[in-house]
Amino acid sequence: MQKRLFKIEQNEAVARDTFRLVLRTDAPVAIRSGQFVDIALPGFYLRRPISVSDILPDGVVLYYKVVGEGTRAMAGMKPGEGLELLLPLGSGFHPERCREAALLAGGGLGAAPLYLLAKELQTLGKQVTAVLGFNRADEICLEQEFRALGIPVLLATLDGSAGTKGFVTDAIAAAQPVFDRFYTCGPLPMMKALCAALPTPGEASLEERMGCGAGFCYGCTVQTLSGPKRVCADGPVFDKEDLPW
Ligand SMILES: Cc1cc2nc3c(=O)[nH]c(=O)nc-3n(C[C@H](O)[C@H](O)[C@H](O)COP(=O)(O)OP(=O)(O)OC[C@H]3O[C@@H](n4cnc5c(N)ncnc54)[C@H](O)[C@@H]3O)c2cc1C
Ligand code: FES
Repeated sequence: MQKRLFKIEQNEAVARDTFRLVLRTDAPVAIRSGQFVDIALPGFYLRRPISVSDILPDGVVLYYKVVGEGTRAMAGMKPGEGLELLLPLGSGFHPERCREAALLAGGGLGAAPLYLLAKELQTLGKQVTAVLGFNRADEICLEQEFRALGIPVLLATLDGSAGTKGFVTDAIAAAQPVFDRFYTCGPLPMMKALCAALPTPGEASLEERMGCGAGFCYGCTVQTLSGPKRVCADGPVFDKEDLPW
């Protein structure tokens, strides 16, 4: 884990309240899907954890939703401004545990870390299907990026304005994709429903409010079947078999 300075190359709205942030630095970045960065924002005491969605030779691509003061301040930042990141943080997904075909299930911006995972799975020669759920059509993001990788995308929106009306579980039930392992990131109720509904092994990326982000304060502890775990250091990715749902 290290602190590194990045420069903003792009910080643009790509969907309702949703921004794509491209950050460049002066050397290669080593990070895996499911790991995250902790961003120091000028004027804010606590860093903001954001998943890595893609890696560039000298940078990272992040997607974030404006939900509070910190992300609102981030949305106002301009290309050329600097940001200090703590990285890489947390455990990553395990693409090598997929035998042949993976299902990636994202809710909202849970799609972001799954994009990098999709690329890792393809590098390993695995088949990938993505199922992405949003509240409404104007919140959809990353669909075209997944399609550009040649990945079939099942869409679900709660209001029915795009794809299957309902949850990702409805889109999965309608399309019946074939897979031997699933990977999910998104709202807790969605991930609980998936873990209950899908018979295969899987991995879920959890979100908790964080203090230090680096394993020291125990502020992000959750209960698992193998005892208390820190989401920032032991997770955020946990095996379905270890989650008490
Ligand atoms: C491992 C991990 C990966 C994440 N990846 C993404 C991502 O790729 N894109 C994205 O949009 N969001 C992501 N989040 C959620 C993101 O960190 C929060 O939305 C963000 O910190 C909110 O900051 P704020 O100042 O706008 O909100 P405020 O509510 O004003 O924040 C107040 C404090 O609570 C913390 N906080 C608020 N909501 C969350 C939350 N859901 N999770 C953790 N801490 C929170 C903030 O960091 C801050 O310290 C991730 C969270 C975690 C834990
Ligand atoms: S946020 Fe401090 S231990 Fe996880």
